[in-house]
Formats: sequence, C-alpha cells, structure tokens
Amino acid sequence: MEYLDNLNKLEFSNLDIELRNYAKENDVPIIQDEGLHFLRQVIMLKNARNILEVGTAIGYSAIQMAKLGANVDTIEINEESYKIALENVKKANLSDKITIYNEDALLIDISKLKKYDLIFIDAAKAQYINFFNKFKVLLNDKGVIVTDNLLFHGLVLETEFKSRNLRQLVNKIRNYNEWLLEQDDFDTTIYNIGDGLALSIKK
Ligand SMILES: C[S@@+](CC[C@H](N)C(=O)[O-])C[C@H]1O[C@@H](n2cnc3c(N)ncnc32)[C@H](O)[C@@H]1O
Repeated sequence: MEYLDNLNKLEFSNLDIELRNYAKENDVPIIQDEGLHFLRQVIMLKNARNILEVGTAIGYSAIQMAKLGANVDTIEINEESYKIALENVKKANLSDKITIYNEDALLIDISKLKKYDLIFIDAAKAQYINFFNKFKVLLNDKGVIVTDNLLFHGLVLETEFKSRNLRQLVNKIRNYNEWLLEQDDFDTTIYNIGDGLALSIKK
C-alpha cells in the first residue's frame, strides 16, 4: 500500500541501492520491501544470532540480515550468482558474518552447517517441502522458518495459466501452503505481506 510504503521507511546504503538496481535491471528476484520489514523484525524479536538462508541470489537479503548483527550461512546453486554474491558481501564488509555455499541445497551435507535460530527459505519453489524437511532438524528450540513467495505474485488465486509448467508450479506452491499448515511440530501462519510469507514457529 503506497500510504504505508511512504511511512514505513527502510534505510538503504549506496551498496543496497546498487544491488536493488542490479536486481531490477537483470530480473533477479530479491525480497520485497514489505517482506524485508517483516523479516528484520522477526530477527530482532527472536534475537536471531545464527541464520540459514536457502537461495542467496546476489546476496541482497543475506546482507540485510547480517547488518542486524546475525551470522548468516547461505546456499546458492548457481555459480555466477554465487560469485556476484561473494563480491557484494565483500563490498559490504560482511565477509566475517556471511558464509556462502555454492551448492545445491538439496544435496549439501548438513553436518557442515550449524544450529540456527531462523531459516529463510527462498529458493526453487517446487522444492519447498524438501527444503523444509531437510533443514528443520537444524533449528534451535523455538526456532523459526520463514518461507517467501507463497502467493507467487497472486498466481495462487488464478485458475487459468499461460503454460502447463506454470500451472504445475502454482500447484506445488498451493500444495506447500496446505502441507505447511498441517505440520503439527510447527505453528504456522501465512501472511499477505510482500509476495506472501509464512512464519513457522517450532513448538
Ligand atoms: C528468489 S532468489 C533468492 C533471493 C535472495 N534471497 C534475496 O532476497 O536477495 C532464489 C535463488 O535460489 C537459487 N536456488 C534455486 N534452487 C536452489 C537450490 N536447490 N539450492 C540452492 N540455491 C537454489 C537460485 O539460483 C536463486 O538465485
């Protein structure tokens, strides 16, 4: 909402602005401002010290999270994105706070990861259930998992799709949303914030 967008201000450094412009020009999907407001406040409320992110892209969200003082481990499958993210993290002077793994999150050996207060799932949407199941064991007590893009630009509400692939992907997201709300070991709410964010609190 424009009214709130004008009131709720985030402070961006020159590097943040550079990354936001790069993402726009190169069609890199990064977290929306509304989602970032939410994520930042969850991190502050939880006093999250250690965060795992699945899906780094160019490092934008990892940088925003690390700026709050958290240590961020983040996984990116794409080598080119990984290299760009590495460079951006260096420019942000956050190399001591952010570790990027250039690996498929579905294949990464979790024994080299830590325990986390917050896990942010923001990678291949068709794999969300697999990501959730794989990484939930790394959560500390009362840890939280935040998942992004659950409204998929409003497409979860549509009935007609341009392609079979798109229909299948939307069905996967709908399926994840329903599955997520059925997980008895988590208390989950899906919010109409940004592109649709779920907050799942480990019971
Ligand atoms: C939406 S972008 C991440 C945006 C980033 N979190 C931000 O807000 O700045 C999703 C990223 O996940 C990566 N990705 C997709 N599948 C993956 C996988 N299996 N393992 C690790 N990364 C993956 C993609 O290459 C892409 O860069």
